[in-house]
Amino acid sequence: MGKIDIETPRFGWAITGSGHFFKESLELMQKLPNLDVFVSKAAAEVLKMYRQEMKLPEGTRIFKDTTASAAPVGNFYYGVYHTLILAPATSNTVAKCVYGISDNLATNVFAQAGKCRVPTIVFACDTAPELDTEAPKGMVKVYPRAIDLENTEKMKAFSDTLVVESLGDLTAAVEERLAWVKSLSS
Ligand SMILES: Cc1cc2nc3c(=O)[nH]c(=O)nc-3n(C[C@H](O)[C@H](O)[C@H](O)COP(=O)(O)O)c2cc1C
Repeated sequence: MGKIDIETPRFGWAITGSGHFFKESLELMQKLPNLDVFVSKAAAEVLKMYRQEMKLPEGTRIFKDTTASAAPVGNFYYGVYHTLILAPATSNTVAKCVYGISDNLATNVFAQAGKCRVPTIVFACDTAPELDTEAPKGMVKVYPRAIDLENTEKMKAFSDTLVVESLGDLTAAVEERLAWVKSLSS
């Protein structure tokens, strides 16, 4: 890997194939300067199903899941990221992360952030036994299984990882990091 400009550390944001708060997560990203977005294969499909376009701040870099080794994650080792946000996080991604599996772009950015001690915010989809969620054709009920809820709980024990359970808490956590970044340059 060539020389990297890390004068301005960036937000990393991984999106996964979750309809739950998908649009809202995309909206929140629009507030962030110096942003890299990591898109899981399922997230790329879900983007199309919800007819969403990523309208992101100028200079945002988008990394799609096209390599077996999740090549873009190498940047975590060069101090490129001050914060990782994994939102929304599917039950699939949460389960893999909790068991230390890193076999695609989203699970790799989570694992590498952990190994590089980069503070991480995770918005897990499955946080309650009964949820209202947005499907492509409108709102539906979903009943996360015990295993899904257990995995979300297990993730809370990870170092440097804040698991948020509502859009309000995600927004507050992201804004707190943004204020911290701005305070460094003022
Ligand atoms: C329209 C649509 C909405 C989905 N919403 C969710 C969801 O809210 N939560 C979830 O855990 N999985 C959801 N899924 C299933 C995931 O996309 C699927 O488990 C996928 O394998 C996850 O891959 P990823 O974790 O690598 O992104 C949805 C699938 C579709 C087609």
